[in-house]
Amino acid sequence: MRVLVNGTVREADVEPDTPLLWVLRDVFGLTGTKFGCGAAMCGACTVHVGGVAKRSCVLPVGDVGDQPVTTIETLAASPAGKALQKAWLAVDVVQCGYCQSGQLMQAAALLDANPAPDDAAIDAVMAGNICRCGTYGRIRTAIKQAAGELSPTRRL
Ligand code: FES
Ligand code: FES
Repeated sequence: MRVLVNGTVREADVEPDTPLLWVLRDVFGLTGTKFGCGAAMCGACTVHVGGVAKRSCVLPVGDVGDQPVTTIETLAASPAGKALQKAWLAVDVVQCGYCQSGQLMQAAALLDANPAPDDAAIDAVMAGNICRCGTYGRIRTAIKQAAGELSPTRRL
């Protein structure tokens, strides 16, 4: 299988029904993307496929086709990703960190689609990303801070 991941075409000797998550982690060594539930229930494995946030644990690599895949390893390459990374540090969001790759990738997809989300918009998009450490409040604060940096005139 060929996958365009983080700007580079890479090859994996796997069956088409292999979940993208295992290709990323076990074949390509991109271990920033985490395994949580394996059932599209927690969001830990979230990556971007064709610019859309997807649960890589349930996405067969054969369904990716020529859509570009972006993982947490290149989050900072996009303006939204860079702003989020900065805000995450400023707000000190992270506790154990396990869910945070997925949280950040989901948040980046949100800001790409909606550069100035209100609380309801943030909650609607982020609700599927579970954090056992309960960092939800700080995640919301950091997303708003990043949005303010991206669109200063629309600061919430
Ligand atoms: S590991 Fe994919 S959603 Fe939980
Ligand atoms: S920071 Fe620990 S699970 Fe989210």
